[in-house]
Amino acid sequence: MSIQVMDFASPFFDVKYIENEKEYYIDKLSIVINLSFKNQECIFVKNIPVLPLKGTIVKNIAITNIDRAIIVEDYERNVKDPDFFKRIKSTWPSLYETSGLERHKGIPYYRSPKVKIGGDVSVNFCYAEPNAPSGKHKDHIPDFDEVHAQILGFGKMQKFTTEETSTLYQEVIMAPGIVHDKFYDESGSYPWHQYHSITDCIYMPIEMDR
Ligand SMILES: [Fe+2]
Repeated sequence: MSIQVMDFASPFFDVKYIENEKEYYIDKLSIVINLSFKNQECIFVKNIPVLPLKGTIVKNIAITNIDRAIIVEDYERNVKDPDFFKRIKSTWPSLYETSGLERHKGIPYYRSPKVKIGGDVSVNFCYAEPNAPSGKHKDHIPDFDEVHAQILGFGKMQKFTTEETSTLYQEVIMAPGIVHDKFYDESGSYPWHQYHSITDCIYMPIEMDR
């Protein structure tokens, strides 16, 4: 049983990692992401389940049966600050600076430090300026099972048949608390895909060791 304060996104967000707790009381409007991808346990909001690798937004309630969860507490607390995104941009390095990947060169994405949680999942927060693609890709190095959770603002996940933008065939709109369905199949292969911001936004890649 543990409740761990995570500081990777501070001072901008208050994030906690909760493991094996019967219940956890949430006071202010907060995002809860169910990370029970191994044990496949549901978290309950009253008697309604939040499935593994899905999220929700709750307040004034005790969530129950938490195998593993990430909580972003009072997730909107900074949205009224007109300089909020500017402050993030001047604190977090660009995605290209941290990844070194050619496809990240010149894109307006900025990344918090990345942390490993529970020994088998890596997370970070990413800020993206409005209406910007993150760069289509099919492979991840090193290989991992990946989903994304939206934290603030709006974006979309896109799938493509080839690397050409015209081959777009599916989009999933991302809003706070949403975790998109898995894109990878049983063998761990992905279609061409990318994140694409709609507004100024923050999302959280969740990278699970395979
Ligand atoms: Fe990806």
